[in-house]
Amino acid sequence: MHNKQTPWHAQDPEQALTLPSRYFFDKDIFAQEQQEIFMKAWHFGCHVNELSEPGAYVVRDIFDQSVILMRDKDGEINAFHNVCQHRGNRLLTETRGVQKGTIRCLYHSWCYAHNGDLRAAPRSQNIKAFNVDDFHIPKVRLQVFAGSVYFNFDADAEDMNTLFPGAEDAIRAAIPKLDDMRLVQEDDVIVPANWKVIMDNSIEGYHFQLSGPHHIDLASLINFSDYKLRCFDNWWTYGAPPNFDAKEAYGVALDRQAEEGDGFFNIGLFPHNTFYQFPFSQCMGTFMMIPLDAERTILRFGYYSPYEQLPEVTQASIQWMNEDLGPEDIDLNITVQKGLHSLGYDQGRYMIDAARSNESEHLVLHFHRLVYQALHGQSATD
Ligand code: FES
Ligand SMILES: [Fe+2]
Repeated sequence: MHNKQTPWHAQDPEQALTLPSRYFFDKDIFAQEQQEIFMKAWHFGCHVNELSEPGAYVVRDIFDQSVILMRDKDGEINAFHNVCQHRGNRLLTETRGVQKGTIRCLYHSWCYAHNGDLRAAPRSQNIKAFNVDDFHIPKVRLQVFAGSVYFNFDADAEDMNTLFPGAEDAIRAAIPKLDDMRLVQEDDVIVPANWKVIMDNSIEGYHFQLSGPHHIDLASLINFSDYKLRCFDNWWTYGAPPNFDAKEAYGVALDRQAEEGDGFFNIGLFPHNTFYQFPFSQCMGTFMMIPLDAERTILRFGYYSPYEQLPEVTQASIQWMNEDLGPEDIDLNITVQKGLHSLGYDQGRYMIDAARSNESEHLVLHFHRLVYQALHGQSATD
């Protein structure tokens, strides 16, 4: 059994106690996560196809920061802060759009090119030594990785290929049509739970057959005994081959023989970027946890498909996620968040078995160790 003298990160995984409950609501710990994790993390912005024409943009907010991702006339994708260089007005207020001409600040009409360079400022010819070339909206670090655009507030952040070696190959192997994906819809839900509570819930199969009817439906669409949860340093995958005997999925009859690629696939890139493909659904889901504060998180459900006309089963899987499975998990996340405050709880046991089986919680420990390491600088992964 766990010896209280052992540092948390050095526990034997198979006997380890969970991260103490204060890690899920303490405001100081959250402030530290904000600085040490999120302000240095790669944040999913959008699929490259969302920026297919000059002037197309996506705006992403995290904490009090807002970033514009925009394609310019030369075909380059730019990431820059969403702020006017005159008196600091926020420039774009819509999440997506196409900016045909320059970006015009609604306050005094300073106008910017699609790469954030100032083009014109009214009355500037009357102002001493004013040169538009002196004003550029500061850039944000950007990388296109596995068909998606990411940004990072840390100019020195490691390249994603170094941070997540092998992850792109894993995504491409599971989602061969990755480059053809187009946004179908995106829905934000504010969940009153710490971001890690939501991640923890998504990276273990222990609750699949135990927690609710929609989870049992999901388990029945896959070969659950072959559900595998694998961790790599800063990323992880979990999934299973399809149930080849399934006759229907999400209430829709399956009109074709199942193929290997019809399985359930998920991949997580630390700290909070998750992509998945549901069984029999030819659609890529993004499942992003965007923290608002210690106990509130935006859960962003994105759906991408290579098809103009969505297959019926794909459509049904999106609706099922939004109305059935998603809420079933969200309800659990909310009640866990409440429970974590109880004077009657601090640490539980990770249910990690020697075989790291389909119902083992080893990914939860791995994820918590990455968080712990980021906060305390310990060598906390094994
Ligand atoms: S604040 Fe933008 S033009 Fe003045
Ligand atoms: Fe779940």
